[in-house]
Amino acid sequence: MDLLILVFVLLVSASSAHEDAFVGVNIGTELSDMPSPTQVVALLKAQQIHHVRLFDTDREMLLALANTGIRVIVSVPNDQLLGIGQSNATAANWVSHNILAHVPATNITSIAVGSEVLTTLPNAASILVSAMEFIHSALVASGLDSQIKVSTPHSSLIIQFSFPPSHAFFNYSWVPVMAPLLKFLQSTGSFFMLNVYPYYNYRQSNGKIALDYALFRPLPPNKEAVDTNTLLHYTNVFDAIVDAAYFSLSSLNVTNIPVVVTESGWPSKGDSSDPDATLDNANTYNSNLIRHVLNTTGTPKHPGIAINTYIYELYNEDLRSGPIFEKNWGLFDANGVPVYSLHLTGSGTLLSNDTTNQTFCVAKEGADRKLVQAALDWACGPGKVDCSPLLQGNPCYEPDTVVAHASYAFDAYYHRMAMAEGTCNFNGVATITTKDPSHRPCIFPGSHGRNVNFINGTLLAPSSNSTTSGCHSEYFYSNIFMSSLIVLWGAAFL
Ligand SMILES: *[C@@H]1O[C@H](CO)[C@@H](O)[C@H](O)[C@H]1NC(C)=O
Ligand SMILES: *[C@@H]1O[C@H](CO)[C@@H](O)[C@H](O)[C@H]1NC(C)=O
Ligand SMILES: *[C@@H]1O[C@H](CO)[C@@H](O)[C@H](O)[C@H]1NC(C)=O
Ligand SMILES: *[C@@H]1O[C@H](CO)[C@@H](O)[C@H](O)[C@H]1NC(C)=O
Ligand SMILES: *[C@@H]1O[C@H](CO)[C@@H](O)[C@H](O)[C@H]1NC(C)=O
Ligand SMILES: *[C@@H]1O[C@H](CO)[C@@H](O)[C@H](O)[C@H]1NC(C)=O
Ligand SMILES: *[C@@H]1O[C@H](CO)[C@@H](O)[C@H](O)[C@H]1NC(C)=O
Ligand SMILES: *[C@@H]1O[C@H](CO)[C@@H](O)[C@H](O)[C@H]1NC(C)=O
Ligand SMILES: *[C@@H]1O[C@H](CO)[C@@H](O)[C@H](O)[C@H]1NC(C)=O
Repeated sequence: MDLLILVFVLLVSASSAHEDAFVGVNIGTELSDMPSPTQVVALLKAQQIHHVRLFDTDREMLLALANTGIRVIVSVPNDQLLGIGQSNATAANWVSHNILAHVPATNITSIAVGSEVLTTLPNAASILVSAMEFIHSALVASGLDSQIKVSTPHSSLIIQFSFPPSHAFFNYSWVPVMAPLLKFLQSTGSFFMLNVYPYYNYRQSNGKIALDYALFRPLPPNKEAVDTNTLLHYTNVFDAIVDAAYFSLSSLNVTNIPVVVTESGWPSKGDSSDPDATLDNANTYNSNLIRHVLNTTGTPKHPGIAINTYIYELYNEDLRSGPIFEKNWGLFDANGVPVYSLHLTGSGTLLSNDTTNQTFCVAKEGADRKLVQAALDWACGPGKVDCSPLLQGNPCYEPDTVVAHASYAFDAYYHRMAMAEGTCNFNGVATITTKDPSHRPCIFPGSHGRNVNFINGTLLAPSSNSTTSGCHSEYFYSNIFMSSLIVLWGAAFL
């Protein structure tokens, strides 16, 4: 727990101190209640996350990221790859619509062309390099090629990976693609994007890989893996995979392309066939990974060379297909509540699982009842809080008072906005408190961290259309009064 506080503080200072070592996050959007781009950006800011990767070029998201200082990798989704790889004009058009429309306000630093194309879409492999070249030439034509790099993320499965790393090489079947691809990366000053998942290596090793080795936990010296070729000592799987990539590159005589890890993470939940997808392991892996990256330890082959890494991923994606663990890679749930203890900055320093610094937003005692009612209406309506728990028969109906209901709604809004400054005001009738206002069976958002959201599955995970159905008509007692307040609040924090 303290570790994560430390590393997120480090993350802040390291990213301002040395531009060359950073940790970013991937933002997948397969959530049934995907937060709005504004809410995503509020969370990124509150968490001091300065580097993100998007899996597409969502217009609203890129607009929300404008003028934030956040560096963005955007992606050409695999389903658009063929068109772009087959036509220079299509590529130029794509760049114009998705890149030129957003720079310089949004700091797009690279374009990931496709995702794990060689291993997931082998039919498109033949046009991958032309897609990258076409996009690059459109950037050249716009004078953006020096600030926006073009690359493509690879699965580590393209590496014929058997320990020791010094014996690694790219699967020969991909060399006809890999050779021109590396030439392109070299000649454009780009980097090699690699997805590194020790979780999968560990899971598939049938016990040959020790959990501690996968999680960057200290190993007794006799358990460290030694590459007998190079005599390099490996203390974790991550380094071994990254070095396997370096050795694979050098087997093609390429030694000057930096490696960026576009995805790495550990799932926090799984079914019985994934017993090591646990909160503790996810917390350990990501904490140690962040510390490792920010310390610029490098790898045994290239000590001191930063391996910038994007954690997979910001949110748990409940709509992802596959086993349970595939839905549980996130650092946060849809409400911006950390899945495990992360340090929250924003309005003061907050820590979800640290009750001394845990804050909630509640209605002020003795506040004008009409103003409280109007604020409640706003929260359940335009504020998009799921107020269904307040309905009769649901956990937060009792006590059935305006102040109690408003407190629940205010707190839900406040946590949804990542407790950002100014989001617990509601025209002066709300106040921040460190006292947990939960009362059985009503669990307030932000209470007891992660557990809150798993209470019967749905309490705080509204579907996007549950908002209006969850709002009692009694809350809408005066539309005119309400709309004037909306304008006021709109000015205050929207
Ligand atoms: C955009 O990001 C690049 C790379 O980190 C940085 O050098 C540049 O200063 C940033 N530009 C702005 C306007 O923030
Ligand atoms: C593709 O278009 C760019 C301009 O956007 C041009 O400079 C380049 O020569 C073209 N490349 C090919 C292969 O046609
Ligand atoms: C190498 O790639 C080919 C083509 O995708 C695949 O059939 C083969 O299984 C791969 N080899 C290994 C050892 O992964
Ligand atoms: C790498 O360089 C060596 C020595 O210059 C050469 O013999 C070898 O063919 C090269 N390999 C490739 C894949 O280019
Ligand atoms: C940071 O790196 C140094 C060597 O550069 C090493 O001695 C130290 O243990 C590392 N710290 C952590 C927390 O990994
Ligand atoms: C949060 O605190 C509770 C109670 O102290 C503890 O049981 C739980 O393990 C903590 N969770 C995390 C993720 O640290
Ligand atoms: C709690 O907040 C105070 C004041 O903001 C801060 O000094 C303290 O370090 C925090 N405690 C933890 C455990 O983060
Ligand atoms: C969760 O569901 C169980 C059984 O369906 C029920 O007894 C319990 O009261 C529910 N808890 C809440 C907080 O709704
Ligand atoms: C929400 O909307 C989707 C389609 O937009 C619909 O399939 C679903 O049944 C709705 N859920 C509720 C609870 O109304």
